[in-house]
Amino acid sequence: MAELQIAIAGDLHDQWDGSDHRLLAAIRPDALLLVGDFSEGGGRIPLLLRELELPLACVLGNHDAGRDASGDRLQRQLDRLGELHCGWGLRTLQPPGVAVVGGRPATAGGGHHLSRASRAVFGPVGMEESADRICRAALTADPSLPLVLLAHCGPSGLGSEAHAPCGRDWKRPACDWGDQDLALAVERIQRQRPLPLVVFGHMHHSLRRSQGERLTFLRDRRGTAYLNAACVPRHGRDPEGRELRHFSWIHLNDHGLQRASHRWYRPDGTLLYEQLLWQASEAPIPC
Ligand SMILES: [Fe+2]
Repeated sequence: MAELQIAIAGDLHDQWDGSDHRLLAAIRPDALLLVGDFSEGGGRIPLLLRELELPLACVLGNHDAGRDASGDRLQRQLDRLGELHCGWGLRTLQPPGVAVVGGRPATAGGGHHLSRASRAVFGPVGMEESADRICRAALTADPSLPLVLLAHCGPSGLGSEAHAPCGRDWKRPACDWGDQDLALAVERIQRQRPLPLVVFGHMHHSLRRSQGERLTFLRDRRGTAYLNAACVPRHGRDPEGRELRHFSWIHLNDHGLQRASHRWYRPDGTLLYEQLLWQASEAPIPC
């Protein structure tokens, strides 16, 4: 299999428009993954995403339910996204050849908690049931394709400090705010097939209360990499006033993850900044 390059858009928080589509046409990733929190339940971005010809998969976040406990706004997002949304399910992107399995939709992290909107749409799905759904979907994937888990919040177990990939930074004491159902699913999947990558967002890179920057990449002893893509705001400007667009960027092949970075592009496709997170020739960082 040729090496794939996959762009990952972290929490959009309404920052997605035609300039992002033109940028993607210029930089031409093989596929696009989106980790949710598109907006506060608006319908604009799901419709825009449907216009893209690029193979893509997404999962919704807690903000996508808006402030609507009835679940109607969340359901409307799901209806508009259709097969692009892979929460609790498998989406095979073929071409380019990657199996994407979604985590629990609309999670706000913190272990296992379903909001009122989530309960209205999905019912009272418990932790075991949620982990089973993720695991079952992963085990139906073609074993010859690399597997990526795509979630809004990452799994528990990546650290309890505020700066950990899923660490709670907005309130003391800092703690592990990852999802336990996703952690259970990861552990079960790893026993049965290779899992090169888990991507997620929700926990923004800039920590609250001037605590600095979050650790956004880890790799465990089984070779699974964990990438937090939530650079918020993802539309910005550099000190010279040049417009920037953020994507996390991975290279993936038959042997697993080869390279991971955060990239900031100009809207015309010029790569201005890259933060290298890991590449295959480097020693793995156990967590
Ligand atoms: Fe979120």
